[in-house]
Amino acid sequence: MMHNIDINKMNRLMEENEDARQIISQLLENHQVTVSTIAHEIRNPLTLISSALQIMQVQHPEVTEFSHWKQTMDDVNFMRQLLEELSTFNNGNTLHYSVFSIEHLLKNIAISFAISLDEADSDIEFSSSIPDKLGKYTGDKIKLEEVLLNLLKNAKEAIAGKGTILLTASRKKNVLTIQIKDSGCGIPAENIDSIFEPFKTYKQGGTGLGLSLSKRIVEAHDGSISVASREGQGTTFTVKLPI
Ligand SMILES: Nc1ncnc2c1ncn2[C@@H]1O[C@H](COP(=O)(O)OP(=O)(O)OP(=O)(O)O)[C@@H](O)[C@H]1O
Ligand SMILES: [Mg+2]
Repeated sequence: MMHNIDINKMNRLMEENEDARQIISQLLENHQVTVSTIAHEIRNPLTLISSALQIMQVQHPEVTEFSHWKQTMDDVNFMRQLLEELSTFNNGNTLHYSVFSIEHLLKNIAISFAISLDEADSDIEFSSSIPDKLGKYTGDKIKLEEVLLNLLKNAKEAIAGKGTILLTASRKKNVLTIQIKDSGCGIPAENIDSIFEPFKTYKQGGTGLGLSLSKRIVEAHDGSISVASREGQGTTFTVKLPI
């Protein structure tokens, strides 16, 4: 992924040289098409899963009473929307605004996350403290949900089986503060400045996109994201959003 310094260099090259401008524009366009194509290919089988679930529900209405059925349907729909966002990667910073209750959003995320902790995570203690009446928020609900799920996923991965995760929210005047605190491995001081960079990962199998995407989304909402961490003791991510 390119850093600001590379982007500045690229822009300069494009201004100075018409051939470079054409080639770079073409490359950028190809890149966007590739991302859109991959997202589209994943969306197809996911649509099949979603249709199959709907057919099951029509044929066996009793499934709606199964625990986790509604949550599963919601999660599948969430993934479909997420892929739709990715396929329009071009508009990465474009927000789809709606007005929603931030309290409901946070509570739903807490429930989804609690459900996602399976037996293997039985020694993870997850708790949340979300006050009532946080108020209405105008923003991109799907993208904000993605930010919080990324932070919770990181917390779970940092804990590796045993520890605590706490999700809290509070509002002071026009600022909403959301914190995710874990008792996991913490972040070594030498890594802390780079964790928000795209593709910067210190774990096996990570893409290193979670935090960079989250930062981009929070900043597109005029908010900020920060981290405090102690190696071996735990980490707290703080998201502040103007409300
Ligand atoms: N809660 C946390 N505790 C300890 N380290 C963390 C925490 N959150 C992030 N990190 C560190 O920051 C790095 C970057 O995180 P990021 O979410 O961007 O990517 P990732 O988790 O490695 O990969 P992906 O999110 O794509 O699965 C991680 O590899 C990890 O080293
Ligand atoms: Mg991550």
